[in-house]
Formats: sequence, structure tokens, C-alpha cells
Amino acid sequence: MNKETVKDITLKGKKVLVRVDFNVPLQDGVITNDNRITAALPTINYILEQGGRAILFSHLGRVKEEADKEGKSLAPVAKALGEKLGKEVVFPGVTRGDALETAIERLGDGDILLVENTRFEDIEGKKESKNDAELGKYWASLGDGIFVNDAFGTAHRAHASNVGISSNVRHAVAGFLLENEIKFIKHAVDAPERPFVAILGGSKVSDKIGVIENLLDKADKVIVGGGMTYTFYKAQGLEIGASLCEDDKLELAKELMEKAGDKLILPVDSKEANAFSGYTVVQDTAGEAVTEGFLGLDIGPKSIAKFEAEIAGAKTVVWNGPMGVFENADFQAGTIGVMDAIAAQTGATSIIGGGDSAAAAINLGRADKFSWISTGGGASMELLEGKALPGLTSLTDK
Ligand code: 3PG
Repeated sequence: MNKETVKDITLKGKKVLVRVDFNVPLQDGVITNDNRITAALPTINYILEQGGRAILFSHLGRVKEEADKEGKSLAPVAKALGEKLGKEVVFPGVTRGDALETAIERLGDGDILLVENTRFEDIEGKKESKNDAELGKYWASLGDGIFVNDAFGTAHRAHASNVGISSNVRHAVAGFLLENEIKFIKHAVDAPERPFVAILGGSKVSDKIGVIENLLDKADKVIVGGGMTYTFYKAQGLEIGASLCEDDKLELAKELMEKAGDKLILPVDSKEANAFSGYTVVQDTAGEAVTEGFLGLDIGPKSIAKFEAEIAGAKTVVWNGPMGVFENADFQAGTIGVMDAIAAQTGATSIIGGGDSAAAAINLGRADKFSWISTGGGASMELLEGKALPGLTSLTDK
């Protein structure tokens, strides 16, 4: 990476502005998955150990009007972070003004403060999300010219709290999480050790077009599963029953199959049910065709075996998107099968894009089997598509 990192600068006694992605799931004020907080700890601890005064920024959810603020304060995150760090996280509960500025002035070396949800600034004129020039300048003015971006999950956004601050400081540098995310994902796509196998799942072809196209150019094999399968099947004239299908993407699916030739590998059977919920019959199809009135909700055992054989021997594997409705135990065998096949490739670099596939690996107890599990959903997708991330490009060149 040709960008400065947190290791390239002197932090002692400095007010260091840090963008983290603490956009964590909350239920009734309780954090249900704190991975993103844990993932930011190495950078935060490093800054504090070096004697920096850390001023953290994050968004939480999306905020359009006053009523959206309900349940989106970062207060529970400040508490959880304090518990993990074993020290007080000052939380003034505002995004600007005297209370924030005074609290920052009171910080000593090694102290930490969390600013309130940056998207509370979206209520009037979308200042955060539209990278309002005044807001980026104001937030930058709260520090001593150093900005550490560790929010990989937000790196595909050009917002005031990442790109805006970056443009108004002397040093805008990457934190360890951002650096690692880029190292693993970009390296896998741009300079993979081969054979390079990509496995793409999820329900919609439309969500994955860019990724499929880019990886068809870069990978040796692209395995496609999940709900997307049935759009590809229908494009070949196969019976898909009541399975999910994007009829407006049939032409595109045909084009992708023609372009890909034998590089694109599709499932050869499905686990089908006679309804999405409240089903009374669950069975494996004999081949590709789904029974009329049934829905394909997972890949079947023949597909698992086929995918295992395709993954065997891979030196780089990138996986994004589940093979079926993995939240339901009846339809998680495909996702588990693929995960286990990847995990069995000892010595291979294995990477899981964020979002559902990361959740599947964590919830199904396989998180430690992979070289890297991304903390970014949209951001990892854009990297896999080969796009530049504004949160990264806006950092200071080495
Ligand atoms: C995410 O959860 O993908 C990131 O935090 C970005 O959130 P956003 O899609 O609301 O910008």
C-alpha cells in the first residue's frame, strides 16, 4: 500500500482524529455483534500506548430526519468500547460545539473520546453524507493535523468524517484494520497465488454483476451459488419452479455465461421446499430442474461435492455470499459445505467478504478457519469489483 500508516507518524501528546466503523447491530440498545469494535482495538490501543489523545468518529445506521435519531446514539458503543479497553471513553453525546471542544481540551495523553453518531449531521442538508466542506474542516480543526482512517467498512463512501477530514489535515493515514483489509483483499484480486477460485453467492445477480465480471477476468474459476443460481438456470431454459429469479437480468446472465465459458461453475442440484416458510416438504432435486411449485433454497449434495472438487488445490479463495438460506438450519448445508471445503485448503489464502458470508462463518463457528474475514460489506464488494475506495485514495501518499 502506497499510503502512510499510523506507524509512520509521531502521536505522543497529539490530538489524533480517528475514523472507525462502529456501525454495529443493536437490539433495544444492546450490541448483538461487536466484531467491528474488536477489529478496531489494535489501532486504538496503539494510539493510546504511544501517548496520543484519540478522538473517535463513527456513524451508526442511516439518519434522514430527527425521528431517525431514536436508538442511534453511540452511547452503548462508548460503554462497550470502555469495557474492552478497561478505561473511560469520554462521550460528550454531540457532534460539534462547546461541550465537545471542552471535553477534547481536557483529554490527557492516552485518553480517548468518542464523538456522537456522525450521521446526526445528516438531518439538515446531509452534511456528513454529502461531505459538506465546512463540516470536514470543522472536524479536522478538533485535532492536531493527524487523521487515522481505520473504517474499512465505510471506505467506499466519500463522507465528511473520512474524505472531508482527510482533505484538511497534514497527515491522513491508514490504521491497522484498513491496512490489513486492503492487503488481503486487493492482493488476492490483483496478484493472487494461483489457482485462484472465487465463490459468489447471495440472492441477486444485480447485486453481484460488477464482482462477477471483474473476477471472471482475474480468477481461474468463478463458482456461483445461492439464489442467483435460478436466474442463470432460467436463462438456459431450465425449470426453476417458484425459485427467486430476476427476469430483467436473464439477458445479462446469458452474456456472462457466454463470456465465461467453462470458468463459470453453477450448482448441479438444489435443496428445494414447497414454501419459503411453513413448508411441509424439503427434498433434493435430481438435477438442475426445480420441481414446479417448489423453491430452491440451498445447493444440493451433488453441488457441494462438485464445488469441493473445484476448490481442491486452490491457493487463493475469495468467498462472498451464502449458498442458501443459511439462517435456517434446513438450508445451511451448502454454505457449511463450501466453508469447510475452503477451510480444508491448508496453505491457501482464504478471504471472506463482509456482510452475510462473514456472519455465516462467525455464527456457524468457522471464523478461525480463514486467513481474513472482512469487516466491510459494501466496501469489500467494491474492492472485489476493482473499484477505488475514496476513504483510501484520500489518504496521504507515502
Ligand atoms: C456498512 O455497514 O456496510 C458500513 O458501515 C456502511 O454503512 P452505509 O451503507 O450505511 O454507508
